[in-house]
Amino acid sequence: MPVISVCSPKGGVGKTTLAANLAHVFSASGARVVCIDFDPQNSLRLYFGVQLSEERGFINIFTEDPKAGWIDAVINGGKNLFVIPYGKSSEDQRRALASVLADDKGPTNYLGEWQKGLFCDPSVLLIADFPPGYSPALAAISTVADISIVPLMADASSVSLFSVLENNELIDRPLNERLGYYIVLNHVDNRIRLNREVQDFAHGNFADRLLGVIHSDTSVIEAAAMQRSISDFNQNSSAAFDIEVIARKIAGLLKFDVKSGTMVLNPESQGA
Ligand SMILES: Nc1ncnc2c1ncn2[C@@H]1O[C@H](COP(=O)(O)OP(=O)(O)OP(=O)(O)O)[C@@H](O)[C@H]1O
Ligand SMILES: [Mg+2]
Repeated sequence: MPVISVCSPKGGVGKTTLAANLAHVFSASGARVVCIDFDPQNSLRLYFGVQLSEERGFINIFTEDPKAGWIDAVINGGKNLFVIPYGKSSEDQRRALASVLADDKGPTNYLGEWQKGLFCDPSVLLIADFPPGYSPALAAISTVADISIVPLMADASSVSLFSVLENNELIDRPLNERLGYYIVLNHVDNRIRLNREVQDFAHGNFADRLLGVIHSDTSVIEAAAMQRSISDFNQNSSAAFDIEVIARKIAGLLKFDVKSGTMVLNPESQGA
């Protein structure tokens, strides 16, 4: 199964927005997509029409039986689209998960081995959303992820974060063992000079790691408030276009077959 992790050294840069909307774009293209939330904030589910009062998630299953499969936490989010919420959690629950994931080294890692059904189904695309910065889950997924998509803003503080990625400082090793990381500059407003300068810096120094930009767009906020995808809310918005372009680039990197509007995951090209 192709696994995409969406992570960033910085908070509030659009990780959850991008993870959820990529899931919507890929599922609309015909791929079966499972989106999983590794952030205790537990907000990813809200992008899939799940009610605020719905508190279940994989953390509840994990607490009852650490070796149980998380597949039972899957909620249907639309055609071809599924979400696994983190769930409402206590500090003890989060600590217990962190300690299991922290031991996640070698071939029998927790996500690869105990969650095999979830992470090794070649017919399903898995997109994982993470809290900002380091997390044990982000380190644990590095052995099973195929590509890491890293949203950053085109602001001054992001410039220093490019080198955090380049030097593998986020989890003290590469974010995955396959295609590596790709940066998405989000909230871009070309009327702002600094935004243009940061884009120039990124093109000049990290062109091969720059996947694309998403413009600052009120449709993003409005779509989220209505629990709809951006393309569904306003197909003609700049953000919908930007995310579609980024999804196509990811599909190209992962070598998905896209035929007449239908995306076919090719297990052989994934090395599964
Ligand atoms: N391109 C954009 N244009 C306008 N608003 C945006 C854009 N991208 C994201 N936002 C808004 O920015 C806010 C933060 O986005 P989001 O929650 O996806 O960030 P995050 O990186 O997941 O945050 P956290 O670190 O807290 O998990 C949200 O209100 C979202 O609607
Ligand atoms: Mg988030």
